[in-house]
Parts: sequence; C-alpha cells; structure tokens
Amino acid sequence: NRVVLAYSGGLDTSVILKWLEQTYGCEVVTFTADLGQGEELEPARQKALKAGVKPEHIFIEDVREEFVKDYVFPMMRANALYEGLYLLGTSIARPLIAKRQIEIAHQVGADAVSHGATGKGNDQVRFELGYYGLDPDIRVIAPWREWDLTSRTRLIAFAEEHGIDIPRDKRGEAPFSTDANLLHTSSEGKVLEDPWEETPDYVYSRTNDPESAPDTPEYITVEFEGGDAVGVNGEPLSPAALLTKLNDYGREHGIGRLDLVENRFVGMKSRGMYETPGGTILLAAHRGIEQLTLDRGAAHLKDELMPRYAELIYNGFWFSPEREMLQAAIDHSQTHVAGTVRLKLYKGRADVVGRKTDRRFNLYSQEVVTFEEDKGRYDQRDAAGFIRLNALRLRLLGERNRDA
Ligand code: ARG
Ligand code: SIN
Repeated sequence: NRVVLAYSGGLDTSVILKWLEQTYGCEVVTFTADLGQGEELEPARQKALKAGVKPEHIFIEDVREEFVKDYVFPMMRANALYEGLYLLGTSIARPLIAKRQIEIAHQVGADAVSHGATGKGNDQVRFELGYYGLDPDIRVIAPWREWDLTSRTRLIAFAEEHGIDIPRDKRGEAPFSTDANLLHTSSEGKVLEDPWEETPDYVYSRTNDPESAPDTPEYITVEFEGGDAVGVNGEPLSPAALLTKLNDYGREHGIGRLDLVENRFVGMKSRGMYETPGGTILLAAHRGIEQLTLDRGAAHLKDELMPRYAELIYNGFWFSPEREMLQAAIDHSQTHVAGTVRLKLYKGRADVVGRKTDRRFNLYSQEVVTFEEDKGRYDQRDAAGFIRLNALRLRLLGERNRDA
C-alpha cells in the first residue's frame, strides 16, 4: 500500500500527491530527479514534508551525469531527430525516471508507481512502458486518467482548496505545460495551441532571441572520442558538465529554438515550442566529426535507421529489444568517430566550419580528392568504365522509350 510518485514539486504533481493520499489512503513515496531542469530541489522536499510524506520516503537525486552519459549521448550517436526536427529532450528523460521509480519501489516495498502525465499525451506511454518493461507486475496509477479534475481550471481550484502553491509565469499567469532538463525545455498549451500564432517572446526561458544575440560570431571546438563528446575548447569535461557548457554557448547565441507541430503517439497532432541549445550544437558537431571518420556505407545505413530509432524513443520503447538492437549497431559504428570539430556560433546558428582527426580515425584523403596532381591512387580513366556500366540500364531504357 505504498506508491512511488514521480514528483517534481510543481503544481500537477503536488495535487497528485494530495489526491493519492485522499483517494487511495496510501503512503506516498516521492522521487524527485535533478535532471538539470535548473530548479532548486529543496522546495520539493519541503512541500513533500508538508504534505505528510515521511522524511525517509523523500528521494531527491542528482541524476544529471547518468542522464547525459547513458541516455542523451547514446541518442546523439544516432543523430536522432523525431520527424526531422525534434531532439527528443522530454522523450529521452522518461525512461531514466521510470527506472529509478521502479528501483525505489523495490527498495521501499511499494507495489505501485504514479506519474503526472495526462491521458492525452506521450509521456504517460513512456513512463508506463518503462515501468512494465522493468517490472511486469507493477501497479500503475495515472491520476489524470482517473480523477474528475478534468481541466486546468479544476486542478487549480483543487490546489487552492488544499493550500498548494500555484506557480505563476513571468506574466503572473498559471504556466504552460512545460518540461525541462539539461537537454531541453518544452512548452505546450495556451497560446501555443493555435499553430498559426507565433510563439510570444515570454515563452522562451533559456535562449536569447537570435535577433538580439551578439553581433560577432564565436568559435568553439568540441572534441570527440568513440562517438561521444569529451571536451570543449580542449578542456576535458564530464558528460553533464559538457552539455552544461554547450548550453551556455547556445543560450548566448540563441541556438536551438524550435516551433513544431508533431504527431503524438496517441494519434493527435500537437504544437510545441522547444529550446535545445547545447543539444543542437552537439548534434551539429557530431555530424561534423562523422563526416571525416564514418564510412559511407555505415553512415548511410545509420541515416536510414535513425528515423526508426527516433520513433522508438519518442513512442516510449527505450527498454525494448529493437531499440537495443539498433543501439548496438549504432554504437558499433562509432569506434572511430573521434577528433575535433570547430563551430561558428552566430545568431541562432551553429555551423561546423572545420574538423580534424588523427590518422588512426581518418577516412578523408586530400591526396585522393585533390583537384591538383595526385599520386596515382585514383586513375581518372577508371571512371569511364564505372559510368559506362552504371549507365547501361539507363541507355537500354532510353532506347526502348525512343523506339516505342
Ligand atoms: N511533445 C514533447 C514530447 O512528447 C514534449 C512533451 C512534454 N512537454 C510538455 N510541455 N508537457 O516529447
Ligand atoms: C502530458 O500529456 O502530460 C504532456 C504532453 C505529452 O506527454 O505529450
């Protein structure tokens, strides 16, 4: 009769905490993860205590390094983008939260877990596929699908009634539906629900407006080993420290804003606004180093697998055999993905302007590609036969069409 709640300390999960106690008369155990959302976590402890949670049942953990190392980086190796644009900042955090909730449930002898995702979105699916994948017998309580607080207005009324703080945004309004971690911040709802309305400036929280970003470009380098970024400007950094640093650069130069109408797994379209400053730089840099070090066959196959891999993460199948199979193939391709990428950051853009690597990893040969005299590694006369054979079927087709 214990339930482990993924507790952010925000409005929704604070209401859920109270509601779980009232509705199920159960003991609530809270799990609050520091994923780099940039919020103080101590208030979550105070709120949980105030709501009657036992001190030993309040779990607050800094999981930033694990998040970046074991979730964000593997995904970056794949250059994963959902529907061509979305860097999956929320999608990739859910499996980690689900995993810790299950571990805590086992530790404290809880038989149920709970989360604050609504019944209309992707996150419920991601949390729950994670739960069931790691504990087939776990009981899941999804308050949004059960209670009668069926709108934000009713939710706020419940909060007021029970003395729960209602956070206000910069304009003193109840906030958007947001989610933040070291990789991104997302906002949905309210004015954004009209896909024709441009995102108002006050919605952005972690990037400068590219138009007012510095007028002089800034150059940085990112160093890679085995497909993962390991340093910035020659300074070795841990995964979380590295992403934090790239976030600072991205913020300054207004990099990684995205306005997207996407297809949710549950079938509807939704409009969201994303800020993924460091992740956007990292993705560009990773592609930059793959350009020198990845064989064409491997690179193209990777690009074919990528949308499938991204969709698995979006749809919540992180803990699935097919995601693991793809991951193994992707990771295998990364052994030689090492070297240094130079990027130019300027008014919302992160452009690769240089890349270099060691002889051990390099596939680029200036000697072969040069327009100047080469040393006979490539005989231009060979190309004539290469083209003739490749053209054969096109010529046969051409003849048939001409004669018909
Ligand atoms: N649409 C994004 C996704 O499915 C973000 C969802 C959570 N974000 C939010 N603002 N509630 O990954
Ligand atoms: C939610 O439903 O809680 C947020 C949106 C989503 O998960 O897609």
